[in-house]
Amino acid sequence: MIFKKKIDIGKGKELLSRYRISDVHTHILPGIDDGSKDTEESVRLLTALSEQGIDTVVATPHYYPTEKSPDSFLTLRDNAWELLSEKLTESLPRVKLGAEVLYFRGISRMESLERLCVQGTKTLLLEMPSDLWSEYILREIFDIQRSRGIDVVMAHIERYMQKQPSSLFNQLLTGGVKMQINASSLTGKQGKKLAKMLSDGMIHFIGSDCHNMTTRAPDMASAAATVAAYAGEEVFAMLSKSCGVYFG
Ligand SMILES: [Fe+2]
Repeated sequence: MIFKKKIDIGKGKELLSRYRISDVHTHILPGIDDGSKDTEESVRLLTALSEQGIDTVVATPHYYPTEKSPDSFLTLRDNAWELLSEKLTESLPRVKLGAEVLYFRGISRMESLERLCVQGTKTLLLEMPSDLWSEYILREIFDIQRSRGIDVVMAHIERYMQKQPSSLFNQLLTGGVKMQINASSLTGKQGKKLAKMLSDGMIHFIGSDCHNMTTRAPDMASAAATVAAYAGEEVFAMLSKSCGVYFG
């Protein structure tokens, strides 16, 4: 018989709030990508995150290099932010602007890369290709880190792990690359394994990657409760440190 751990969502909320864990991956800006469709939905998403104990949210709309120039993306992002900021209240989480940037060949030489980092930081949320990563790709990741001084955070790393050799992750971690997983993966079948990776320091951030209030709603509290059940509260001190170092 398989015994499942009891998941206490109230405990999850309390830990997120006590350790001031940020949600580092969200699509809460209205009308810019496949996330929130309008300001009302954005406010509902932020309200849900606030109720789950989150006080800082990084807005990371998709940046697809083949679709837009950085300038036009940033103009659209500023417009979306202007619309949303008029609706924000004291009780909602503070929002920092960022982007979820899709890797492309030549990204390490992209002039505007720093402008796509999380506001006030040199931290870049990077979405990786879903197939096997070549040596060239790895070299570019390390170039971004070393030549540009940008800290790479790989988005929802659990999506790619199976397809890459395990030695590659050690190589990336040794090179200082940080890893983010989605809250929804923690509450799924991989939960126990991912919680162990968090406690082993192989994963540094949790993000809701929320897009809407129906099919991809934020569920940070359940994720936090799962981490607490499988890996203990000590993990939150580590997550808190990552959030503090990278997102202030
Ligand atoms: Fe995303």
